Amino acid sequence: KKPKITVVGSINMDLVVSTSAFPHKGETIMGDSFSTIPGGKGANQAVAAARLGADVTLIGCVGDDTFGRELIHHLQSCGINTANVKPVTDGSTGVASITIAEKDNSIIVVPGANHRLTPDMIEEYESVIAESDTVLLQLEIPVESVEKTVELSKKHGIRVIMNPAPFQNLSLKTLELVDYITPNEHELASLLTSEEKKEFFDHHKDKWIVTKGKQGVSFYEDDEEKLVPGFRVEVKDTTGAGDTFNGALAVALSKGESLYEACRYGNAAAALSVTKFGAQSGMPGHEEVASLLQKGDSA
Ligand code: RIB
Ligand code: NA
Repeated sequence: KKPKITVVGSINMDLVVSTSAFPHKGETIMGDSFSTIPGGKGANQAVAAARLGADVTLIGCVGDDTFGRELIHHLQSCGINTANVKPVTDGSTGVASITIAEKDNSIIVVPGANHRLTPDMIEEYESVIAESDTVLLQLEIPVESVEKTVELSKKHGIRVIMNPAPFQNLSLKTLELVDYITPNEHELASLLTSEEKKEFFDHHKDKWIVTKGKQGVSFYEDDEEKLVPGFRVEVKDTTGAGDTFNGALAVALSKGESLYEACRYGNAAAALSVTKFGAQSGMPGHEEVASLLQKGDSA
């Protein structure tokens, strides 16, 4: 049976400029190329999970505009159920202005319609949430809607994976309810600024999965940190690597794999995704991940 995954999150059009160096403040430079590519953390995670064979429903908002229509069409072509992607008239489709230079990227997200996804809308989707194996969340939508999703998911005993990206302050109550929290090292540092949250971290070590780029990811078992090493690949574009990891993690956990195996699966999928330009290009199918796992080429 296909794992059923519901992603509640953002849908953006990525406006990507590639150039040799980042411009300084006030400076104008010439770039190499420009492309518009589907993105948004919610949509990316949905696509990652769908490529790996899951039955995926995405809940989110786009604007009533060209980008919005293009993105819905694109998601459908990826086999994602978009019945709950609402075009709204009071905000334009989210965009991310991305600069790729010096083997790195910088991103400005303008959420637009993504911020029109309200807790009331989430309530309308309670039955969709209740039928999932796993609910997957990020933080490019209003935090109240994220918290409502967590509350409804746990009311029905559904597994919740929270990717706290980009960082927004989440209540302790929400953090306590979710099953897994998947920050990168920067997000983890931002999450642990209060004594209360540090204490929470110490008492709930089993919830944390920290992504560490090409090094891999770590989680805690019996209070001990375990590193699940990443895979060595040739990097073209790291945009969406974290999203691929989260989508793949959700698929593997929904299939009942152990946390260690699920993290390895996520690492392999993320590694393959960075070998191609664009957030969603390069996101692998299950067979590709399985063959990388078999090669076992850990960094
Ligand atoms: O995680 C990568 C994504 O972050 C990009 O696709 C961009 O849309 C931003 O939301
Ligand atoms: Na990619």
